[in-house]
Amino acid sequence: MSNESLLARRERFLGAGAPLFYSKPLHIVRGEGAYLFDIDGKRYIDMYNNVPCVGHANPNVVEAMARQQGTLNVHSRYLHAGIVDFAERLTQLHGPQIESVVFSCSGTEANEVALQMARIATGKRGIVCSNGTYHGNSEAVAKLSGGRRAQPASPEVRSFPFPELYRPVVTNLSEADLTEAYLQRVRDAIAALQNSDEGFAGLIVCSIFANEGLPDVPRGFMPRAAEIVHAAGGVVISDEVQSGYCRTGRWWGYEVTGFTPDIVVTGKPMGNGLPLSATAASKSLVDQFRAKTRYFNTFASSPLQAAVGMAVLDVIERDGLRENSATVGAALKAALLERKTRCAAIGDVRGQGLFVGVEMVKDRDTKAPDAARAFDMANRLKDRGFLTSNAGVFGNVLKIRPPLVFSPADAREFLAAFDATIAEMNG
Ligand SMILES: Cc1ncc(COP(=O)(O)O)c(C=O)c1O
Repeated sequence: MSNESLLARRERFLGAGAPLFYSKPLHIVRGEGAYLFDIDGKRYIDMYNNVPCVGHANPNVVEAMARQQGTLNVHSRYLHAGIVDFAERLTQLHGPQIESVVFSCSGTEANEVALQMARIATGKRGIVCSNGTYHGNSEAVAKLSGGRRAQPASPEVRSFPFPELYRPVVTNLSEADLTEAYLQRVRDAIAALQNSDEGFAGLIVCSIFANEGLPDVPRGFMPRAAEIVHAAGGVVISDEVQSGYCRTGRWWGYEVTGFTPDIVVTGKPMGNGLPLSATAASKSLVDQFRAKTRYFNTFASSPLQAAVGMAVLDVIERDGLRENSATVGAALKAALLERKTRCAAIGDVRGQGLFVGVEMVKDRDTKAPDAARAFDMANRLKDRGFLTSNAGVFGNVLKIRPPLVFSPADAREFLAAFDATIAEMNG
């Protein structure tokens, strides 16, 4: 079947508008490690997908999945040691304030749980978030969305401008004063909720502001913001769905921006493709949530989730993937920063570990975003065998976020393709 007829059937049976990447969609049939293969056998280096963090079709994960599915897979209302062991192991990856876990199946669900935890603990409903964020697609969680996915204003949500050095909310300030300017926006958002019927329950952020475009965050912003939230009686939720699991070269994004969350939300990479997410917090927060909701989620907290989740952690630790993310990512970022000195269309290069954003601009002085160029680059790189995308609030950031098994040799191949693409587009 040709790609054209598959596309037509897709529209017929999935509905028109189901999103696809690239101007000519890619038809992939197999994955292995950091590589994907299309229907014609062409190999692509996957530089986009964070879900298969330990590599596509990782044999350890496949084996754990098959073994558990062939032994027992059932819902969570029976005793089973596997999920308790997995929860205990997850809590040990955080500081002592994180003691217990609620499992679910998607980042959206885990964020819903986090919002409910904050609201139950405080007796208030109002949530503060950034103006360019995305935390999920359910009706409650989508109320937080900003940027290109912004929803109608909700009385329960107040946003603050996401903190960044590149296009600061106030220009010509020292970094310390800029931090203070952003913090004032957070205070204002909290005060607006406190002065409304909603009250203030907490702050939710992606700890590295990934959907906002991976900005360099003014120093000291997050630890001070967390203090302000606590002083106002709220809880701090760190959405680690993108930033967690060694993506930044550290286990958690909150280590990069330097704060201590009360609630940690994880998802995407946890199951290497098996739907698995978690909301982790103090025993007190989790106990209050359980008592009030008697939360049950059919496919969550299962022996299968536990076996696969454990296998993913085993591979990350055994194969030193946190260290790989830190070292390969740092070298890649340095190489891209060097390209910035000779390509005027690159306005900025940002990121940590194996999560790098290359901001494309029409003009370095005005910083006018160039989404068309970023999209064009992603398409040209795809044709050369490298999968990226364009992201950020303006859609002008080339997003590089490969599986954690991405190697120095893969990075070298990518940089050659990047150079050729830039040359072809006349710098
Ligand atoms: C930061 C962040 N949180 C939550 C989600 C939602 O996760 P899911 O699609 O698994 O519901 C996403 C998805 O892209 C995300 O980027």
